[in-house]
Amino acid sequence: MDNVLTAAQLQLRRGGRPVIDDVSLTLAPGEMVALIGPNGAGKSTLLRLLTGYLAPDAGACTLAGRRLEHWSARALSRCRAVMLQQTQLPFDWSVETVVAMGRAPWALADEQGIVRQVMALTGCSALFGRRYNTLSGGEQQRVQLARALAQLWQDGGPQGWLFLDEPTSALDLYHQQQLLRLLKHLTRGSPLHVCVVVHDLNLAALWADRLILLHAGKIVAAGTAQAVIQREVIRKWYGAQVHVTQHPEQGAPQVLLAL
Ligand SMILES: Nc1ncnc2c1ncn2[C@@H]1O[C@H](COP(=O)(O)OP(=O)(O)OP(=O)(O)O)[C@@H](O)[C@H]1O
Ligand SMILES: [Mg+2]
Repeated sequence: MDNVLTAAQLQLRRGGRPVIDDVSLTLAPGEMVALIGPNGAGKSTLLRLLTGYLAPDAGACTLAGRRLEHWSARALSRCRAVMLQQTQLPFDWSVETVVAMGRAPWALADEQGIVRQVMALTGCSALFGRRYNTLSGGEQQRVQLARALAQLWQDGGPQGWLFLDEPTSALDLYHQQQLLRLLKHLTRGSPLHVCVVVHDLNLAALWADRLILLHAGKIVAAGTAQAVIQREVIRKWYGAQVHVTQHPEQGAPQVLLAL
């Protein structure tokens, strides 16, 4: 199939045991997918395989009909961007220089215009002129999102595959809401796929079109929030005792920890 990213029977072993075990999935433009699962389930590792930063021991990832390892680094950088959980920089760069790094795979045309646009979208305009290393953890996360969007910016919007590893982990409530609304809006308005690792099941249930639950390197549940966020499913794979209730606005399942 054209213009989809597929993973077929991915396997990866580390430390003598499988870290990713027979994972197959398809990601398409226009959707937002949440990767969930307990600590050590393999979410970050799967993200690294899907983005071509790690090669599987067996199986393959294919983007638009071509295996990831056959893409040139430049061509791949133009259509998939990755936001890691924490990015420390060894240089004392300004915020706008960090965002402009996202434009590296492209010609320099209109770089400043795009930088300003993505900084406004991600609520970073007030950070213009600041040194990146002096920002708070949440401010750095927003700048990294701006950089990733700048990387995918084409014809007035982000296009391609955007992968984010716990992008809300340092964000306050307002910025969590802004980030998820923005990502959802962008997947509706441009040919963009968003795959996001999140620990907050309530955010995943509220905003993702599809959830994929990993446990010990395997996909153990996948589908809509209603299908995945169930009391017994959470107890079985996380070991946590929870109540599942409904969001008052659109009925998405929401999780409360039991006492
Ligand atoms: N190089 C390695 N050697 C040994 N074990 C590894 C290596 N890399 C990853 N692992 C193990 O693989 C498992 C999956 O790690 P990964 O970082 O993908 O988990 P995760 O689902 O992202 O967890 P978290 O929610 O804590 O971020 C963990 O148990 C980790 O210890
Ligand atoms: Mg992780």
